[in-house]
Amino acid sequence: MERRQLLKQSGFAIAAFCYSRDLFANHTAANATLNHTNPFFLENNMIRLGSNENPHGPSPLAKQAMIAAVNISNRYQWDMNGLLRTEIAKLTGHTKEHITLGAGSSELLGVVSLWAAYKKGNVVASEPTFKLWMPAARKMGLPTKLVPLTAAKHNDLDGLVKAMDDQTKMVYLCNPNNPTGTVSPAADLENFIKKVAATTIVLLDEAYTDYYDTPSMSKLVDQYPNLVIAKTFSKTFGMAGARVGYVLAHPDTIKQLNEFQAWANAGPSAVSMRGALAAMGDTAFVDFCKKENVKAKEILYKGFEALNINHIKSYTSFVYFDTATYKKDIPALLLANNIIGARSFEQNSSWLRISIGTVSEMEKVVEVLKNNASIS
Ligand SMILES: Cc1ncc(COP(=O)(O)O)c(C=O)c1O
Repeated sequence: MERRQLLKQSGFAIAAFCYSRDLFANHTAANATLNHTNPFFLENNMIRLGSNENPHGPSPLAKQAMIAAVNISNRYQWDMNGLLRTEIAKLTGHTKEHITLGAGSSELLGVVSLWAAYKKGNVVASEPTFKLWMPAARKMGLPTKLVPLTAAKHNDLDGLVKAMDDQTKMVYLCNPNNPTGTVSPAADLENFIKKVAATTIVLLDEAYTDYYDTPSMSKLVDQYPNLVIAKTFSKTFGMAGARVGYVLAHPDTIKQLNEFQAWANAGPSAVSMRGALAAMGDTAFVDFCKKENVKAKEILYKGFEALNINHIKSYTSFVYFDTATYKKDIPALLLANNIIGARSFEQNSSWLRISIGTVSEMEKVVEVLKNNASIS
């Protein structure tokens, strides 16, 4: 790859991961002005492949429940929080005392970091990984020690342990990892938790486990009060905009975390919670989304293979791939074809992440790449 192109892509990368919130807000605002007569301006013909959103959601049952709940959204609904936690407890094999809710799991990643920052020290995490919570953690006085992934772009569990020191108050681990889509074997992960959670908080982000039934480590929370597992309704349940997430941890840990939430009604709105409750009952929809994700991803894999683009087998709703063998600037090319979201997460790297959309969206991506492959 040309140096100029690499620099351009890494420039895009830094902008993307430093300012992704603004980037998407600006993109949305631009659409809003263009489509001011259309209240559903997000449903224009731009294909959004930058935030690992589920292109099929929310489920029909969740939509119905949310529409119905709008009528009573003038009231505080004190009982909803307990009700949703009870249903999540049934789903995950815990009690409602093992669960706290957030407006998306990212709110809770922030709450757990606040808890760690309160203990004063540092946090250890992989590079690259899901980092949107890190700037706030740094502002709260929690510097981050970043550990590169292995050559195969897996979390380096031994490296993370080695990077810990007596000031480490939290280790963040995303499994499957975002942006690479790789998973650590369950036995290795369990060993890692046993070692690390003995002395420090382990914040294990399981946002994507449901796509391929990657085993959850939540069975260990009673044994390890330092283990906190973050989960979300944004992915297989397709409710990213509704903002519903939760963490699973030992009940004593949950009590401590709740003290960092300022209000008994913190977290998702009652409308979203009703949506989440209904979504859990719509298993057919989740199965459909998982199957469509596999089909759409296969189309991308096949396209990459035909184009000799190296990529990593993903256990998620996104794929990490290497643009080194492709002659054109892929993010720019896709954008010119109304597809936003191929993003870089590593400096000076030719690797990008792209989310999996619908089957037809991935066909469009492959078509654009194939049509422009030989044009320099
Ligand atoms: C690994 C990971 N964790 C957490 C989140 C945030 O999810 P939520 O929408 O629940 O805040 C995301 C969103 O893409 C993610 O990729």
